[in-house]
Formats: sequence, structure tokens, C-alpha cells
Amino acid sequence: MRFISDPNNPPCIGVQAISPSINQQVSNPVVQAVSEDQDLGAVVIREKPRYDRVYAKTGIELLDKLLGGGFLRGKTYLVAGETGCGKTIFSLQFLVYGALNGEPGVYLAIDEPTEHLLRGIKRLGWDVTELIEDGKLLFLDMRTHFSKIYMKEERKKIEPRFIIESIINNIRKIKAKRLVIDPVAPLMYGGSTDVLYAREFLREMVFSLEKLRTVTTIMTSEIPSGSNKLSRFGVEEFLASGIIVLSLNEIRGRILRVMYIRKARWAPVHPCKYVFEIVPGKGIVLKGPLENYV
Ligand SMILES: Nc1ncnc2c1ncn2[C@@H]1O[C@H](COP(=O)(O)OP(=O)(O)O)[C@@H](O)[C@H]1O
Ligand SMILES: [Mg+2]
Repeated sequence: MRFISDPNNPPCIGVQAISPSINQQVSNPVVQAVSEDQDLGAVVIREKPRYDRVYAKTGIELLDKLLGGGFLRGKTYLVAGETGCGKTIFSLQFLVYGALNGEPGVYLAIDEPTEHLLRGIKRLGWDVTELIEDGKLLFLDMRTHFSKIYMKEERKKIEPRFIIESIINNIRKIKAKRLVIDPVAPLMYGGSTDVLYAREFLREMVFSLEKLRTVTTIMTSEIPSGSNKLSRFGVEEFLASGIIVLSLNEIRGRILRVMYIRKARWAPVHPCKYVFEIVPGKGIVLKGPLENYV
């Protein structure tokens, strides 16, 4: 017996080509036992995995399948895309799905006042009133929420610790298991415009949230039109356990919504673009691979 545990040589690479049923099994364990006399094209799992991964389903059926179960619970994910691509709807779907399935969630609205969001959610056909009343969803408006902190003590304005503390206090308030920060970049500036400061802030925030181990976070990132960057500070993508890129692609005069799993740590994801639709009452519905639409 030998063990494959080298992070630079994840077991999924060799297993990808085998069969979907084996794929399913190996998406869980980090350390796989394989028999020595067989090459990786015919891996046989002989021992039970050391531990099972716990997933936070995104609520987008096909995406959860592609990710082998969903996002890894307790980790941070980046949903990136140009404006109007569906980042906010993706994030809300993640929260609403969680709230309906025993995982309360906090939504930190950075750019849009929450009353606009709530109107949009209603128009999309989701009724979240009861979830809010039952403490399963908590919407926080950065402008009003943090301005209260800023006013209390000026020093806090430049102290990321207070913002992180406040987010964590709100998580504790409703025993949240999910968090959305939409979009993350403006929060990072705090009282400064220094990129190094913003990166440090971001790093500290992700570490503090992941230390809780129970809260799965989506940070969204607004990509400027025409840019090939994924984030404002260039560090968000490294801190994230996974990156979902949303875009609008023009194919022979038709504009299609496209989702691409750019990174999914420890998941055997084959790089592929998928077409999706935004359907009232359902939210994001992932269809087939883009190649079927061209
Ligand atoms: N009720 C709805 N039904 C169908 N599509 C919608 C609905 N509401 C919004 N959309 C689509 O979603 C897009 C905006 O998604 P959003 O998540 O706000 O994007 P982003 O956060 O990336 O800017 C809109 O451009 C619109 O095309
Ligand atoms: Mg948005």
C-alpha cells in the first residue's frame, strides 16, 4: 500500500478519467489508499477515507454535482464577474437554499441598500420575509451598519479588527452557517486606500472566518468590463478555496450566460464552461456545457 497525500499531486487527477461512480467516491477523502500494483487509471479504494468532507450545497443542482457535493463547509469562495452577470443572485440563492435547509445566513450588502435587494428578491419569486422573521436570514447594510461603528469611535474606522468582530458577532446572533459579502472590495478599503493594507485586512478576515470552521463564505468580486483580472486586490483568488466566474458570452449574435469553475480546491473538476439561465422562482439554473450551444 502507498498513500497519495501530496497536495501537488492530488488523487483526483489520476482518477478523473476512470468512471463517474469512482469519481463520486474519491471526491471526499484527502488521503486515498491505492494498491501498489495498479496504475492510477485503475485505482481501487481499499481503505475508508480518513475523514469525510462536509459540503455546503450552493442550491444550484448541477453545480453541486460538478463540485462533488457543493462548497466545502467552513471555507471561502469567490464569485467573480462583470456587472449584471448574476453574482448577487448566485449569492442570494446560496443563502436562501441554506436558510431553508438548516443553515442560517448573513448577507452583508455593500453596494446596494438592503431594501432594494429585498424588492429584487421578491420580484425573482422568493419570499424571504418569514426566513428573516425566524432569524434564518440576516441582511446587513454596510452603510448604516458600519457607520454606527465608525461614529462610536473614530479609531475603529481604520481598525479592520472591529469590522471583522462585528461580522462575527452578527454570525453568532443567528448562529449563521453561511455568509455573503457582496462585493468584498469596498469593505477592504476601510479608512485607507492602500492596497497592501487592504490585502492584509482581507487575509485577516478570511483567516478569522475560517477559524470558526462552520461558516461557508461567498465574497463577490466585480470585474471591470474587458479586464482579465478576477479581483480588485489580486489576493482574493489566492485566499479562496474556489472561484466561480460568471460572464455573458456572445455566440453567433446570441448572448448566453456562462458559468465557469475557475478553481475548486480538492475537487476533481474538469475545466468547462456551462450555460445558465436566471429563472424566476428558481434563480440560477445551470444547463449543459457551452460547447453544446455553439
Ligand atoms: N426577476 C428576474 N428574472 C430574470 N432575470 C433577472 C431577474 N432579476 C434580475 N435578473 C437578471 O439578473 C441580472 C443581474 O444579476 P445580479 O445578480 O444583480 O448581477 P451582478 O450582481 O453580477 O451585477 C440582471 O441583469 C437580469 O438580467
Ligand atoms: Mg451585484
